[in-house]
Amino acid sequence: MGEKMGNLRRTHMCGNLRVSNIGEEVVLMGWVQKQRNLGSLIFVDLRDTTGIVQVVFDDTLSKEIFEKAEKIRSEYVIAAKGKVRKRESINNDIPTGEIEVLASELKILDEAETPPIYIKDNDDVSESMRLKYRYLDLRKPSMQKNLKTRHKVAKVIREFLDENNFVEIETPMLTKPTPEGARDYLVPSRVNPGQFYALPQSPQLMKQLLMVSGMDRYYQIVKCFRDEDLRANRQPEFTQVDMEMSFVDVDDVIELNERLLYKLFKEIKGIEIELPINRMTYKEAMERFGSDKPDLRFGFELVNISDIVANSSFKVFSETISNNGEVRGINVNGYGDKFSRKDISKLEEYVKTFGAKGLAWIKITNEGITSPIAKFLGEEELNEIIKRMNGKENDLLLFVADKSSVVFDSLGNLRIEIAKKLDIIDKNDLKLIWITEFPLFEYDDEEQRYVAKHHPFTHPMDEDIELLETEPEKVRAKAYDIVINGDEMGGGSIRINNRKLQERMFKALGFTMEEAWDKFGFLLEAFKYGTPPHGGLAYGFDRLIMLFTNNDNIRDVIAFPKTQSATCLLTGAPTDVSVEQLKEVHVKLDIKE
Ligand code: AMO
Ligand code: AMP
Repeated sequence: MGEKMGNLRRTHMCGNLRVSNIGEEVVLMGWVQKQRNLGSLIFVDLRDTTGIVQVVFDDTLSKEIFEKAEKIRSEYVIAAKGKVRKRESINNDIPTGEIEVLASELKILDEAETPPIYIKDNDDVSESMRLKYRYLDLRKPSMQKNLKTRHKVAKVIREFLDENNFVEIETPMLTKPTPEGARDYLVPSRVNPGQFYALPQSPQLMKQLLMVSGMDRYYQIVKCFRDEDLRANRQPEFTQVDMEMSFVDVDDVIELNERLLYKLFKEIKGIEIELPINRMTYKEAMERFGSDKPDLRFGFELVNISDIVANSSFKVFSETISNNGEVRGINVNGYGDKFSRKDISKLEEYVKTFGAKGLAWIKITNEGITSPIAKFLGEEELNEIIKRMNGKENDLLLFVADKSSVVFDSLGNLRIEIAKKLDIIDKNDLKLIWITEFPLFEYDDEEQRYVAKHHPFTHPMDEDIELLETEPEKVRAKAYDIVINGDEMGGGSIRINNRKLQERMFKALGFTMEEAWDKFGFLLEAFKYGTPPHGGLAYGFDRLIMLFTNNDNIRDVIAFPKTQSATCLLTGAPTDVSVEQLKEVHVKLDIKE
């Protein structure tokens, strides 16, 4: 047998061998999942990216090869040649379980130390170990599958957008701050002392410039960088499917994206989603679900009872309302018996994390009503509340009184928390919804001024433009989000393409034109020379992959992700750099914390 690998060329992939290959001579290459030595027979589970197949070494065939096989350990990389034959004891757990390969040649291509984590799905190893040894973690079948799905989704998206005349164009990574409103990652410039690039939070301004350039339809699958506090489905560098179209209004962008979503669900999941996808205004979403990304897979909708309790002798309610607040509740219908007093006080602690001051409740049992607030409410009031909330036996009614943002936030999150606790969300259910008519502005309590809810180039709804100066809080935007099962999968808007309107927008935001020019001058300059009406949308690509792979951890769909504290456990980034290197980029570290 030759010692050079050149004598052996891979003919098949491990996971693809079937009964139809019986009798064929094959050469396989891969990693050893495990080796079992039965004395005169050695079984090796050989793994490559397609799966596992059993390779058998028989000492009656060749002593030399058998002795070599005895040395094999887990994760050794080997090449094996042999004949496919029917297996005696069939293994129904793997697709190759009916056959095995009887080895006639073996080459050990590389040895391996015992790996620090098992190459096995659902092993309960810590995530920090998985991230540190990511290249081993990625050997697991589930992780390989996630990355392949990611590839396939990208491919389907590219095909679709290509068919629809989109052009993929790259935009710079070293750029100026973009308008998404998170903190920037900054890069010092060596050749321009004291000056910095910002990594883009999105290609927003560049894609608008491409519309001014007449490219008509642009897209890009692109990294975006946002230095923000990381939550479950966020990463500091993440990927967007970013697109922009010329000569369109809201319905055009939505219609095209519905066809894209249809194709994706069909080709990736084999599901035919119903078109058109339902739409819900921002206002309705907030009123009914307390959230602009409502999960429609379960009920417990919010109900406003402010008018009933405006003059209540329960001061918590009536005083909140006289201070311009409101009282809303949810009915956890049919699950009253699932919540003890202790459980309810846990729910109270939960809503307090969203700023609520308490959680009032009414439980309807077969023996009547239990409630710490019933004694403060008149009988008529109590009956009216129960009627409004459609309260029946074994229902639990929960209320928050506060300013509306706190009421929405706490009850919106509470309904999800309860649904998860009760485990009533059907994992196979799929609820897509467009959220439309977002407010153009939101009030920033810290800065004490209006800020753009989406970004300052978002077009107001035509019928609301006249309110820009008088009642900015009432102006709705031509902005839309696609929400799937309670997650914001993407969002976009139609942009302003009229200079006068853009100036009014900046004024409403409290920018002087000077400030606006300083920040976005290059875009405003470009808009002087003929700008088509345009608009677009960007998907959170990682979130799409989470959806298509049924993952609730964004890190599981990214090859080399960052931790919650924005570090890379594999490379150790971020790290200190030498004084020389800092000097070169004109940076001095002297802020001590
Ligand atoms: P937006 O800021 O809404 O819009 O971002 C678009 C989508 O990107 C995803 N996303 C994230 N995913 C993972 N980690 C993050 N930190 C993160 N932040 C956002 C979300 C979101 O819906 N330029 C506009 C788009 C446009 O107007 O065309 C933009 O960036 O799924
Ligand atoms: P108290 O009179 O403050 O003990 O409150 C009586 C009940 O009202 C308790 O169950 C509190 O959780 C609830 N409660 C207090 N403040 C609020 C509020 N702002 N919204 C809803 N319930 C509240």
